[in-house]
Amino acid sequence: MYFTQEPKTRREDFFDMDEALREFQRYVRVSKLTLVTGLRRYGKTSLILTGLNEMGEDYVFLDCRLLPAGMISVKDFLKLLIAQARGKVRAALMRVEEVRLAGLGVRVRPSYETLLEALKTIEGKVLVLDEAQELRRSRHRFDKLLAYIYDHLNVRLVVSGSQIGLLHKFLRLEDPEAPLFGRAYAEVRVPRLTRELSLEFLREGFSQHSISPEERLLELAVDSFDGIIGWLSYFGYASVMRGELSEKLVMEVVRMASRLALSEFNHAVQGERYGEVMRIVSLLGKARWGEVKRGVEARLGRIPDKSLAKVLRRLVDMGFLEKVEGAYRIPDPVLARAFREAD
Ligand SMILES: Nc1ncnc2c1ncn2[C@@H]1O[C@H](COP(=O)(O)OP(=O)(O)OP(=O)(O)O)[C@@H](O)[C@H]1O
Ligand SMILES: [Mg+2]
Repeated sequence: MYFTQEPKTRREDFFDMDEALREFQRYVRVSKLTLVTGLRRYGKTSLILTGLNEMGEDYVFLDCRLLPAGMISVKDFLKLLIAQARGKVRAALMRVEEVRLAGLGVRVRPSYETLLEALKTIEGKVLVLDEAQELRRSRHRFDKLLAYIYDHLNVRLVVSGSQIGLLHKFLRLEDPEAPLFGRAYAEVRVPRLTRELSLEFLREGFSQHSISPEERLLELAVDSFDGIIGWLSYFGYASVMRGELSEKLVMEVVRMASRLALSEFNHAVQGERYGEVMRIVSLLGKARWGEVKRGVEARLGRIPDKSLAKVLRRLVDMGFLEKVEGAYRIPDPVLARAFREAD
């Protein structure tokens, strides 16, 4: 079934987008570090889980979004590891005294060395750090930890991120001063579906529910959701739940998705200027620096170049904006609509 809302884990539920799955599997076989990048809802987690399951790989999957807000401690990371570890890994982890105590909720402060010891228990396996840019929020250098794993443990790393700019700032693979510099890695960029594949995905997804919608309605949905597989499957799911597919229903689901995207944005980014920049860009479709500045200043008063640059840089790093040929645009059509219509 394509329209379930959890990340896919099995080949039969996974719509084959193109070469990405096979590329991922090829890399994981030989590379110690595989990056999987793509904006929100592009299908990264599904690709990783389906890919590893199909290969029969033994892996430990850590969703770094489950780490607590604020500064992340070694103990937080260990707790996540304990919660996700199964079978032999879990048993081995529990033999590390401090880890066991941390897992029991005892007030201990596990050291970095304990963490290294804990990670030895996953030798021979794949360690997935989903949404790894979250690990930036720490006084501990998790990038150093990754370099240690890379150099000294028999563990293959899969690192994913939807905030691609932040992920690269965390890993700093190209920075000679950084721990991970110089390590070979492979990167899978999860693509959007083409228009053709988007339509095929919807057609096949609906047919799994014995529904064959009018082509015109599918076109309308793809116009709104573009080739973002997470939105398309959200659309399919919501439509199947509601029954009768009509133009009215398509537009209703689009509005629901917009509200969701906007609330996620507001959760991720606080500050009036961020929202205002997004609003201007959404209204203009694409906007150059000067246009953004004029637009924001018209509403919020003067803003120094440095501050505007910071806002824009952050929005790009988080994947809410992209910069194409000197102009900013909002890559997610659903979020763009939300800002356009928020007025
Ligand atoms: N290849 C696929 N076939 C069918 N459904 C898919 C596929 N890829 C993703 N989906 C669906 O799209 C939604 C988003 O997928 P997933 O969570 O894997 O994406 P993601 O890029 O990890 O998203 P996020 O950035 O939110 O973590 C889920 O509902 C998932 O079931
Ligand atoms: Mg994900």
